[in-house]
Amino acid sequence: MYDIVITGGAGYIGSHTALLLLDKGYNVHIIDSLINGFYESIRSIQNIHKNKKLENKLFFYKCDLRNKELLRKVLKSIQKNGSNNIDALIHFAGLKSVNQSINEPIKYWNNNVLGSVNLFEIMSEFNCENIIFSSSATVYGDNNFRKIKESDELRPINPYGFTKLAVENCLNNIFHSPLNNWGVIVLRYFNPAGAHPSGLIGENYKGKPSNLFPFICQVAEGTLEKITVFGNDWETLDGTCVRDYIHIMDLAEGHLSAIEYLLKNEKQFLTINLGTSEGVSVLNFIYQFQETNNVRIRYEFGDRREGDSAFSVADSSKALKILGWRAKRTLSDICKDGWKRQKMIAKL
Ligand code: UD1
Repeated sequence: MYDIVITGGAGYIGSHTALLLLDKGYNVHIIDSLINGFYESIRSIQNIHKNKKLENKLFFYKCDLRNKELLRKVLKSIQKNGSNNIDALIHFAGLKSVNQSINEPIKYWNNNVLGSVNLFEIMSEFNCENIIFSSSATVYGDNNFRKIKESDELRPINPYGFTKLAVENCLNNIFHSPLNNWGVIVLRYFNPAGAHPSGLIGENYKGKPSNLFPFICQVAEGTLEKITVFGNDWETLDGTCVRDYIHIMDLAEGHLSAIEYLLKNEKQFLTINLGTSEGVSVLNFIYQFQETNNVRIRYEFGDRREGDSAFSVADSSKALKILGWRAKRTLSDICKDGWKRQKMIAKL
């Protein structure tokens, strides 16, 4: 069976993807510094799989990608623990707060860019030349209320977005180098939300959440009193911003499709949006959460948040055409599974 390395596999998207790959029989090697990831997610993956033997299937290596020496040792161990060959790597590891990146840009370039370049260098040494890179819709420029295509203009407006684009460009340079033979798929995510239906894994936070969905969950649970909706005077139907919320398990399945594609096809450089193609306003999301879970969400309208855009929705047709993937779960599934997870965290 294939050996897949997942950097950042103890994080939100990484842990759900690891779980799915294990379900499909892949051997999974997680590398995580645990700066933002949680070892608890690895234990939860083991719990969900308790009836299946994970010995020699799931491995964890604590390592910061900026530590090149250690990273080299880790890849050696991975070769030894696996079948001597790393078939592909999914690179999630990185910092992801837009706000923090504005205040601490050096930290973001150091973690996200330096860490990635180190990783690519060591991957080359080990002839590991298949990679899926976790990028973001934040790399796109203004969309004029049109669904965003991969070929649209790239114009990040914050340091986090610049670091994602820098890594995309680095991979593109590597792909075009005559000395290399890399296969690269860049996945640009829209707004991941929700949790595994068991509620055993989901998004864990260090500190107060800033994204909409975890905020809604905490208001529903009573940890936070109310949510401030950032602006009700946008040029949208109800005046609140519109986003493309994608269930975390759909996103994980997108990675599975990308891995299968990468392993079966000739080497290429692909950039693919992962979204639902459905726009949902902040108010609609709140209403859906209330209806699905029969709870009340208190909210108030506040000022617009700096750096927000009115509309960000994927054109996901390329993912369907090339990977045969499309998001299957509904907004109600996101609300149901995310709420289940929140109630489980509350009991911990
Ligand atoms: C943000 C990041 C994006 C990142 C994504 C990950 C910014 C500008 N962009 O996207 O780079 O890839 O998270 O999921 O931060 N909202 C409220 N009240 C709140 C929180 C959010 O009204 O307390 C609104 C926002 O104005 C926005 C929508 O909810 O319209 C979604 O916000 P959020 O979850 O933070 O995601 P994005 O801003 O779309």
